[in-house]
Amino acid sequence: MNHLLTMENLDRGTLESLLDEADDFAEVLTRPIPKVPALRGKTVATMFFEPSTRTRMSFEKAAKALSADTVSFSPGTSALSKGESLKDTVLTVRAMGVDLMIVRHQATGAPWRIAEWLDIPIINGGDGAHQHPTQALLDCLTIRQRFGSLDGLTIAIVGDVKHSRVARSDIFAMTALGAKVILVGPSTLLPLDPEAWPVTVTSNLDEVLDAVDVVYLLRVQTERGGASVFPSLAEYAVKYGMNTERLARLRPDAVVMHPGPMNRGVEIGYDVADDDRSLVLQQVTNGIAVRMAVLFRLIGGEQDA
Ligand code: NCD
Repeated sequence: MNHLLTMENLDRGTLESLLDEADDFAEVLTRPIPKVPALRGKTVATMFFEPSTRTRMSFEKAAKALSADTVSFSPGTSALSKGESLKDTVLTVRAMGVDLMIVRHQATGAPWRIAEWLDIPIINGGDGAHQHPTQALLDCLTIRQRFGSLDGLTIAIVGDVKHSRVARSDIFAMTALGAKVILVGPSTLLPLDPEAWPVTVTSNLDEVLDAVDVVYLLRVQTERGGASVFPSLAEYAVKYGMNTERLARLRPDAVVMHPGPMNRGVEIGYDVADDDRSLVLQQVTNGIAVRMAVLFRLIGGEQDA
């Protein structure tokens, strides 16, 4: 593995071995001193051209738990505002002795371009509505910890699938690990070509509630035009929001997930995120272990964790 850009071409063996490694790193994170020297002397750069709370901080924490140094780029305070190009920006950061870059960008494909320009591993931290591979890995780790395996599970991904890079990555990872994925949402928020994917689709959430093991909720991506295709957020919440009434109709062992940031009262009821059956914060915690596994795989060399 030279880069981690997409979930589309990762086979089951690679996915499972990354998740196994993440389980080991999760154990490291529970120690009194949650740190190992695996990446001592390496420098990791977070290049986030789009806003982020979880993904950026999680990568920073993961790098530090492996004893790597971190440098961080923010567009608002950078020379981008003086007209510097994307290519010159990343070449500049590379020239500072950076060993790996994590890139989030509003443009689909930006991490691939950067991977062509630079001679170091690139991790896609989310490109446009396209891919967000480490989110899919942390989601699969969280499901695997709860159910033992994804094999034979039914997972409903609900909401703004059309604009969701999380859904695009999750679909490939979850199905590669043996789960069945149902996309649920208003037809205007479902992809135009769902038959190109290994999924089934429906616009009726209530009809699938008692058949699923995981309800995976997506945020309506207002910044990508998500809210412009239905009458109001209130109406969306009535038809597709995971409220307490719907929660009660799930199977007893079914769980609710969300990648964050959540819009409580829209796709997820005010209290649902805090319910015992919500894995939202476990997803966040697992994000660190998964990103440690990916960083170690890409720049850990022959060293032993
Ligand atoms: C997501 C993203 O930015 O793609 N958040 C995340 O990384 N956990 C989902 C979103 O913005 O809705």
